[in-house]
Amino acid sequence: MATQRTLSIIKPDAVAKNAIGEIISRFEKAGLQVVAAKMLKLDDDKAGGFYAEHKERPFFKDLVGFMTSGPVVVQVLEGDDAIAKNRELMGATNPKEAAPGTIRADFAETIDANAVHGSDSPESAEREIAYFFGADEICPR
Ligand code: TYD
Ligand code: MG
Repeated sequence: MATQRTLSIIKPDAVAKNAIGEIISRFEKAGLQVVAAKMLKLDDDKAGGFYAEHKERPFFKDLVGFMTSGPVVVQVLEGDDAIAKNRELMGATNPKEAAPGTIRADFAETIDANAVHGSDSPESAEREIAYFFGADEICPR
């Protein structure tokens, strides 16, 4: 599999639980490298624009409210098959359905506060990385 980049967000619930390190450690142990990272407090526009594909969904307003409720850590992960690998480490969107040992199974309780985001395709990875990072902020090793 080719090397890919994906966008990961550690969401406000996981930051509030002081789980930043444990979550990043799972990425690193799985062979993904952090090649960009920053902590941000999103506002409504930035969070809403990020989740624009869900604008018409009933949960959109609550999702934006949650994503702006506290700081997040956004990062670019790089590695073999990074997009699928990250989604596998994350587990299912609903933590109640997430496989044991996944990040969402271990750190999230509800579907609306589910610890992490990960890009779901090469197209969304490209858009989402550019949404948060300039080329000069990404440091491949
Ligand atoms: P989605 O892109 O479907 O999930 P994922 O984060 O696994 O890619 O949805 C984006 C976020 O929207 C999801 O992480 C949590 C929130 N959400 C809800 O609050 N309720 C829902 O029913 C769904 C599908 C998502
Ligand atoms: Mg998604």
